[in-house]
Amino acid sequence: MTRRVPDPLEGVPLLEDLPPLRAKKVLVRADFNVPLVEGDGGRLVVEDDYRIRAALPTLHWLQERGAVVTACTHLGRPKGRPDPRFDVQPVRERLEELAPGGALLDNLRFDPGEEANDPAFVARLVDEFDAYVNDAFGASHRAHGSIVGPPLRLPSAAGRLLAREAGMLGRLLGEPERPYVAVIGGAKVADKLGLLIALAERVDRLLVGGAMAFTLLSVQGHPIGRSLIEPEHLDECARLLEAAGPRLLLPLDVVVLGPDGTIGSGNPGTGSTAVVGTDLPEGWEGVDIGPETRASFEAAIGGARSIFWNGPLGAFEDPRFATGTRSLADAIASSDAFSVVGGGDTVAALDGFKLADRVSFVSTGGGASLKLLEHGDLPALQALRRSPNAPRR
Ligand code: 3PG
Repeated sequence: MTRRVPDPLEGVPLLEDLPPLRAKKVLVRADFNVPLVEGDGGRLVVEDDYRIRAALPTLHWLQERGAVVTACTHLGRPKGRPDPRFDVQPVRERLEELAPGGALLDNLRFDPGEEANDPAFVARLVDEFDAYVNDAFGASHRAHGSIVGPPLRLPSAAGRLLAREAGMLGRLLGEPERPYVAVIGGAKVADKLGLLIALAERVDRLLVGGAMAFTLLSVQGHPIGRSLIEPEHLDECARLLEAAGPRLLLPLDVVVLGPDGTIGSGNPGTGSTAVVGTDLPEGWEGVDIGPETRASFEAAIGGARSIFWNGPLGAFEDPRFATGTRSLADAIASSDAFSVVGGGDTVAALDGFKLADRVSFVSTGGGASLKLLEHGDLPALQALRRSPNAPRR
């Protein structure tokens, strides 16, 4: 029997639940963890401002109501001390162009209190603010000080982005339209085992590709050549195979790269390639799904009414091995099912194929979207439900 999963937004205060904001100081936790590149003269600039633009509806809403807005974010993983490589100045400059008049605090992770959720750090952070808004969906699975601390001390709300992400992913949690098909790929099965096991019980079809499929194929007794295997997770993989039964679709055939071959990045690498079944020749590496698998995955997507996709199905950065990921992206783009795509690599693939506007929703969070689908809730949402102005809906 399917367990009823509560709406993740239930009891979470929204912007409208905040007290009047004219001249009030509002702290906005955003996820401006964006890629930086060297610009003119070696100065770092923001390479992709998608996450900054995603927070604009909230920032503008607050500014229109007369609030004095200060944003804060983490950037990279500086490990609790200042590190010039993770200085938020390039983000501050881009933010000033997109939402003039707001301020941005220094990188939250320059202070060890952020990741440790130290109450003294939280007290310093919220000092002088009148209200708090969390719009950092991508960091909402982290029980860090700036995420879980402020709602216990200030009137608080989920910003527009956080609310939209939780609402969209929430549609896959409650009673999604069926058939519900999830596609999970990527390099490591370890990162996604919890999600795979949770999905195995909820979806009608669970399609698994990418390097992670080889650990599962090896549990089934297939030789996997020199493909990546995660020996410490074989038992959990066996449990997953059992729990999912016939709902799990693994590759039926595989594109392999010869013993001395290399995977390119943007350009083709070197070495011979071949298509084989699921028994890989010794010394060869599985790098993409084969044509039979593409057909089976396309058929599953073609019949779906709800779709979730996270993780590429092959080493798509090498154009020789992008076909599987591309065919899946095309199938999802052609489907009129409700479709959600999440995860940095997956979104990059979709963008590269120019298909991002052909799916129902592209999540700004990788880990956060996986954790929300796995657990049905996130530390950020739990904290917001405890804020003094939370509605008793
Ligand atoms: C992300 O980029 O996925 C988020 O900003 C979270 O970053 P983190 O994995 O370093 O916590």
